[in-house]
Amino acid sequence: MSFLTKLVLVPALLALVSAEFPFELEVDLDFDPAVARNDDPASYRLPEDLDPIHCNIEVTPYFETAPEGKEPFTFDGETTLYIRVLSEGLTAMILQDNVKDIVNVTLVTENFDIVPLNDSTPFDRIRQYFFLRINLADGVTLANGQVYLLNIHYIGNINETPLTRGMFRGNYKDSSGKFTFSWYAGTHLQPTHGRQLFPSFDEPGFKSTYNITVNRPANFTQTYSNMDIAETIPMGDLVKEVFYTTPRMSAYLISILVSEDFTVIAENNDADRPYRIIARPNAPNQGEYALKVGPPLTKWFEDYFSIPYYTMGPGMKNDQIASPDWASGATENWGLVSYREVRLLYEEGETNALDKMYIGTITAHELAHKWFGNLITARWWDNVWINEGFASYFEYFGMVYPELELESQFNIMYVQSALSADSSAATRALRHTVNSPTEVTGHFSGISYSKGATLLLMLKHFLSEDTFKKALNRFLVDRLEVWSYEHAFPEDLYVAFKNATTEDGTQLYSADIEEFLKYWVDEPGYPVLDVTVNTDTGLVQLSQERFFISATATQTQQVWPLPLTYTTGKNPDWNALTPTTVMLGKSDEIQIDAGDAWVIFNVQQKGNGMYRVNYDENNWKRIANALKADINNIHFLNRAQVIDDVFALMRSQRITFEQGFEVLDFLRDDTSYYSWYPATSGLNWIRNRFLHLPSVLAEYDAVLFEFLQAVIEDLGYDVVEDEPLTRTLNRLFVLSFACNIGHSGCVQDALQKFTALRTSQTPVNPNLRRHVFCVGLREGTYDDWNWLYNRRLDSNNQGDEVAMLRALGCSSDEQAVKEYLEMILSDDVKAQDTVNAFTFLYMGDKGNAKIALQFLKERTEEIRKAVVLPAWFQNVLSGIAGYLDEEGLEDMEQWLNSNQESVPEFNVGLSAIASARSSMKWGDDNADAVLKAMGRGSGHVIVPTLSLLFTTLIALMLR
Ligand SMILES: *[C@@H]1O[C@H](CO)[C@@H](O)[C@H](O)[C@H]1NC(C)=O
Ligand SMILES: *[C@@H]1O[C@H](CO)[C@@H](O)[C@H](O)[C@H]1NC(C)=O
Ligand SMILES: *[C@@H]1O[C@H](CO)[C@@H](O)[C@H](O)[C@H]1NC(C)=O
Ligand SMILES: *[C@@H]1O[C@H](CO)[C@@H](O)[C@H](O)[C@H]1NC(C)=O
Ligand SMILES: [Zn+2]
Repeated sequence: MSFLTKLVLVPALLALVSAEFPFELEVDLDFDPAVARNDDPASYRLPEDLDPIHCNIEVTPYFETAPEGKEPFTFDGETTLYIRVLSEGLTAMILQDNVKDIVNVTLVTENFDIVPLNDSTPFDRIRQYFFLRINLADGVTLANGQVYLLNIHYIGNINETPLTRGMFRGNYKDSSGKFTFSWYAGTHLQPTHGRQLFPSFDEPGFKSTYNITVNRPANFTQTYSNMDIAETIPMGDLVKEVFYTTPRMSAYLISILVSEDFTVIAENNDADRPYRIIARPNAPNQGEYALKVGPPLTKWFEDYFSIPYYTMGPGMKNDQIASPDWASGATENWGLVSYREVRLLYEEGETNALDKMYIGTITAHELAHKWFGNLITARWWDNVWINEGFASYFEYFGMVYPELELESQFNIMYVQSALSADSSAATRALRHTVNSPTEVTGHFSGISYSKGATLLLMLKHFLSEDTFKKALNRFLVDRLEVWSYEHAFPEDLYVAFKNATTEDGTQLYSADIEEFLKYWVDEPGYPVLDVTVNTDTGLVQLSQERFFISATATQTQQVWPLPLTYTTGKNPDWNALTPTTVMLGKSDEIQIDAGDAWVIFNVQQKGNGMYRVNYDENNWKRIANALKADINNIHFLNRAQVIDDVFALMRSQRITFEQGFEVLDFLRDDTSYYSWYPATSGLNWIRNRFLHLPSVLAEYDAVLFEFLQAVIEDLGYDVVEDEPLTRTLNRLFVLSFACNIGHSGCVQDALQKFTALRTSQTPVNPNLRRHVFCVGLREGTYDDWNWLYNRRLDSNNQGDEVAMLRALGCSSDEQAVKEYLEMILSDDVKAQDTVNAFTFLYMGDKGNAKIALQFLKERTEEIRKAVVLPAWFQNVLSGIAGYLDEEGLEDMEQWLNSNQESVPEFNVGLSAIASARSSMKWGDDNADAVLKAMGRGSGHVIVPTLSLLFTTLIALMLR
């Protein structure tokens, strides 16, 4: 599974980056019914006395016009499980099921002798734990070592949206751009929804081969599944399609797509190494980019892991399918990877560079899963990082296009998001016990992806790429050859690393590789390294403690093994990526040359990766001065590190605002993408706390405009053909930020572009649309809004559609806002985009949250239904609080308090209100210190200069 925005508080919010969140939600969004019911956690797990070795599944889906006796949007299912018994004296079989109805059950031996079941209750459905128990007749037991065939007839649901997973339905637009109700049904089983498709051993550690058969309506097009079609048999109104046997795999990897007319939109026509892009038929030519990146990536992984892809199963194919509706970013089903359309389809001139890049990285992520996840699978979801950490690492280090700078982007996209996600007191270790489905889904979180991937990068630099590669290969090959497609535990990985490091004689200093890995896997959080330099003697004192973003968190005794890299101003070496030592204790010392040079630890933020660094006041000053003299005195990735660390250190009160902003002053001269990505995030975090203090905000923004001057001047307002990707991305993010805070040059340019588009159809580059459309609508009329609304309906590319959805939320016209809210509840917004649609509206214009609150109060039930998942509804509730002023918060508080029965999630709303208030209080408490540190004196008395007054007025006008 790929969930894309790494830092997100809730995986649902696929279109946002961390910088855009107004504040951290310190609420538990994963309300777990299992916990509420006081379930026995262990009861969710299957006993290990049965081994499903093979499974036949046959499904017959019924759509809108179901035949006599069948319900629309259900399917008939029949499954036969070939089960080997692994213990003595069993009188029942337990598997998982969450289908609509079980019709009947029979059990036979391998020789087809009937095994009698209990007369009165041949089976029980234990709904609380999703168990199906098959009860043998009194006195009958299963023979240890024997294989039995369990046959089950059942009925399943084709759910209304993919958010509920299992088998779901959707429809898509024809080429006129309107919905025509062309139906399709897909499956999304990860992580705990195989049981919705068929009664199954629905845990990743149980692996079987599968023979899948689908009986589709005769007037539909061919069905797609993991494997190719072996046989097609017409049966009147239906066509039976039998697929080849899958490799041995976990149930969650099964994939089926039945549709009226999905088709192959791009393929490489290579019979030995087929690669195809499948989509709705009216997206021709949108598969070319995905086809360009996929085959070389497949080859790269084959070479790197020394295990070929196309022989993983007989007749392996490598299809990628674009699903108009999809709950996550993409899912790694073997032979048929499913993507949300925006993550696979690229339309020249409409898709922006960021979405295009994600098509590449997510393809890499999903293909890497073929080795890490599909071949080798975590035994249970407590170690989901073994799947997701590896896939996320290779998402950036497997891409074969240097011009994307993915190795460098990994720092800001993954390392820094890991540092952020893992700094709360509530964070969890990579290995973390989970049982109920809600807990499982929750562990598919930022930590498993970003920290898992960061740990791997750290290992690579610690051990050297050759040893790292050898260890991965040992791990994979052992599991394949010795254990044959078996599941794995972290311990297996430790053994592989031990083997490779021993064999290569890798210098590990005093660290034991297993101890090293274990600590990072089993402990939550990460440390901050405190560095104190004695310039007279050159003695550097080091100490570490856990880093908490909250200044009031209780400190722990944890001590991490830290491989150290550093360089100094006397003789800067930015390639010193191999650690010189491993710090094993709480404190340590190293010796450098005496003298007045700066020291920087964690070279390129790669040598170790997962820690922050704080220096004594004088070393910070030396770093600040070096940067002031010339930003190029410090490597661009260490500038990114310094910026990200400084914001975190200020927030956690480890350094003062004065110290922090003295360092950050170099932003005035810095135009690098890698600097501005963490900078906008950090600056926005503070800014969101000043929104209720107009005069402070004006002062603060005035400094931001100064900071932004050089970078905007350097980037310009237009995309230059053939410029580096990161320049385009930098412009996209920086201008979006600048326009949003009312930077006059940005706003004027955006208005001009928007007017030119409206009056003379001058196209706007997709990489500028985010801010151009937003400013156009914020400053525009209802007519402008309506125009973009219709333009969105005519769009044939999901990336562009979502970009416009985002802009539609920027209007402050009351009629437009009302229609926008109605639109969220209509079919015009896909279920997967509803929560984002709300967030776009709050973010779009400050006044919109209040209108949305009225809407929420009046239409609670409809909204609850539209967002489908309980956690998503809670998200809407808490999201809104982040954008309300005190008056709005009081209104919301009163509504929640007096509607506790109809809004049982009221507690979530109330704690979001408390968070919003404490954010404002942070602003009240720190405004003076921040402004003073930024050289603006006290925010309340300063008299702005004339030019400042001008920008300030524009800023206020735009809110
Ligand atoms: C089980 O149900 C299916 C579908 O209704 C039916 O065809 C089959 O004969 C039934 N089997 C038994 C043993 O009742
Ligand atoms: C599964 O399908 C293969 C053909 O792909 C066939 O040879 C095999 O017998 C089937 N297995 C079962 C148990 O039906
Ligand atoms: C298939 O048949 C159904 C029922 O007659 C009809 O509603 C649907 O439009 C048809 N689909 C196609 C692609 O012809
Ligand atoms: C590493 O594993 C390989 C086989 O997987 C084995 O031949 C070799 O002896 C092992 N080396 C060490 C140092 O354990
Ligand atoms: Zn994944």
